[in-house]
Amino acid sequence: MAQRIQQRSYGGPEVLELVDVPEPDPRDLAEGEVLVRVHAAGVNPVDTQTRRGGGVSGLMGGFPFTVGWDVAGTVAALGPGAGGGSNGLAVGSRVFAFSRFPEQAAAYADFAVLRESELALVPPSMSDAQAGGLPLAGLTAWQDLVDIAAVQPGQRVLIHGGGGGVGHLAVQIAHDLGAYVIATASAGKCDWVASLGADEVLDYTRVDVVAGLRNRPVDVVLDTVSGPMGPPSVACAAPGGTVIELLGVSEETKAAAQESGVNAVYHAVHPDGGQLQHLADMVAGGRLAVDVSEEYPLARAADAHRAVESGRTRGKLVLRP
Ligand SMILES: NC(=O)c1ccc[n+]([C@@H]2O[C@H](COP(=O)([O-])OP(=O)(O)OC[C@H]3O[C@@H](n4cnc5c(N)ncnc54)[C@H](OP(=O)(O)O)[C@@H]3O)[C@@H](O)[C@H]2O)c1
Repeated sequence: MAQRIQQRSYGGPEVLELVDVPEPDPRDLAEGEVLVRVHAAGVNPVDTQTRRGGGVSGLMGGFPFTVGWDVAGTVAALGPGAGGGSNGLAVGSRVFAFSRFPEQAAAYADFAVLRESELALVPPSMSDAQAGGLPLAGLTAWQDLVDIAAVQPGQRVLIHGGGGGVGHLAVQIAHDLGAYVIATASAGKCDWVASLGADEVLDYTRVDVVAGLRNRPVDVVLDTVSGPMGPPSVACAAPGGTVIELLGVSEETKAAAQESGVNAVYHAVHPDGGQLQHLADMVAGGRLAVDVSEEYPLARAADAHRAVESGRTRGKLVLRP
């Protein structure tokens, strides 16, 4: 038997239950699918939102369902057409992925079925926990800074929430792109965020960030806090600049952006094995590191959700099946 977390209703963290299920049969794998023994599953805010009935709950296909989209593990079996390519993917390979989103990937489990096109090989220097924490948050930071904002060397980039899952990776990626990086964080995380490559870290609990940047606006704002932070984020951007809101662009933010000639956008992260391999190469080259602040056994998924819902965690949390 294998185990997984499932829920039979929407609700608080207590709806997450650990259940026994039969081990997946490799003969059920479809074209291009890969069966992975999960060693770490990243926990993300969309997991908690979906558990409550928001997020992507409409695409879960009814109860019971299992949340989680970040997987790191070893290949247990290859489906038809999978493996044998130039990357050497084979049974036993260490892989990781942000898979199947926004459909169900059921990552909170001993086994997960991933798509080969969405996975990447884990560099030897990277732990399972770090690999489990990277995919969704890392791809969000990469797609927002590179695909959407097209950050150029020398540009000024403001990252709200520099101590969070997306934020701590975005600080490192923006620094690696050659940007001048300004991040916001609370006092206890400021020194650490600076050590990741931020040129300035503003303790948002003590300083007025908008006032501080009024005479030196930025080219790009990655607002991982979003919601009420929208209009102040627009106020920090230069005319022609870009503000990326991770939870959607409110009417208020849209109006503020229009008035000041700023481009305010929302982007939903999508799986991309090629981009994830690029992030893996950055890790291997010492240009990107994933901070895992806490690891939980699968049975304590509810505690991991409580921590994420506090909004105060540092870096990433992962489950260890
Ligand atoms: N659109 C998409 O595709 C997409 C993708 C990924 C995530 N998201 C969304 O983006 C948000 C962030 O995701 P995440 O994984 O980074 O979350 P997270 O790891 O839970 O973020 C927690 C961090 O936010 C910081 N924070 C909270 N309020 C802040 C404020 N007012 N100013 C600065 N920092 C603040 C906290 O730092 P302090 O303790 O220092 O305050 C904490 O370190 C979530 O709402 C998530 O749903 C969207």
